[in-house]
Amino acid sequence: MKRIINLMIVMMVCVTIAACGNIGNKKDYGLDYLVLVNKLNPLPEDWENKVRTVHFTNTVGDDVEVEERAYDAYLKLKKDLKKEGISVDLDSARRSVAAQQQIVDDFTEKYGADYTAKVVAKPGYSEHHTGLALDLYLIIDGVDVVENEDMVQYPEIWAKIHEKLDDYGFILRYLPDKEHITGYAYEPWHIRYVDDKEIAKEIMDKGITLEGYLGAVNETEVSIDYGKSVLYTKAELDEVFTRIKCQFASWEGVELHALRYAGDTCNNDANLVWINSLSEGANYSRISEVFSDFHTPEEGYGTLEKDHDYEDFQWWLACGEDGDWDIVSFGY
Ligand code: DAL
Ligand code: ZN
Repeated sequence: MKRIINLMIVMMVCVTIAACGNIGNKKDYGLDYLVLVNKLNPLPEDWENKVRTVHFTNTVGDDVEVEERAYDAYLKLKKDLKKEGISVDLDSARRSVAAQQQIVDDFTEKYGADYTAKVVAKPGYSEHHTGLALDLYLIIDGVDVVENEDMVQYPEIWAKIHEKLDDYGFILRYLPDKEHITGYAYEPWHIRYVDDKEIAKEIMDKGITLEGYLGAVNETEVSIDYGKSVLYTKAELDEVFTRIKCQFASWEGVELHALRYAGDTCNNDANLVWINSLSEGANYSRISEVFSDFHTPEEGYGTLEKDHDYEDFQWWLACGEDGDWDIVSFGY
């Protein structure tokens, strides 16, 4: 009996050591695993000299490069998922600037510029350059499910995968309804290694973004008023609101509370002349005006008043032939 108890103690100690140890087997070499790379923050200049990577070949025969500790953690996640009957592989992890440009070009040809801007980062601004961002794909009944439009057909499988991410130091990076913070539409396949189970758990449990966790933005609920428009669909106004929300996301410490479409009367000839006169060579044909309510931080932001509730702060956006909404003016 004593021997059994001793054996159990030894086993418990071993399990504890394993649980407290590194997520990846490779040694920690001081990489900044919480690095923020997004539409506003490019890959840090010295990253290329620091990051250590491994290569492997995936089931479709592509070479995939991953940061070494992220790869170890991914293998553990994959093994755990396999036990649940879920097979995954990596479509893409670390990407060079040239590879990112190729993806932008391919996506633009296949899906158009608008969709591409929502799901693919500009070269130099992709988290994939770090080697810490991993795009999974599913293998269902032996068939590789790789295309975005096919992968989104399996929400239950993604939910099971997402449940396990934090156990291996990963987070889901591009959450639904957080496009205004991350800058990208929901991507169930794009996971990000943060090398710390506790941090990953906090982010996943709270349902926040990496931007929110790092304090780069305030994740507040925003009330939206579409008004009554015959000119614009709800989807078009969503584009407009998202552009403004993305701008707010970059105003550190500023809490956005509400956005209201001002109404179709803003789209008149005089305003079109004015808007087009603001930037050389502009050829905007449609305008939208939006009011916003927000609160500034105690230390203030730029020229905005400190610790102040702004109401009806105005935004002017315009859309040209490319279909993209640009912020052309804002102010009080
Ligand atoms: N799909 C992500 C946003 C990227 O291209 O980096
Ligand atoms: Zn990705």
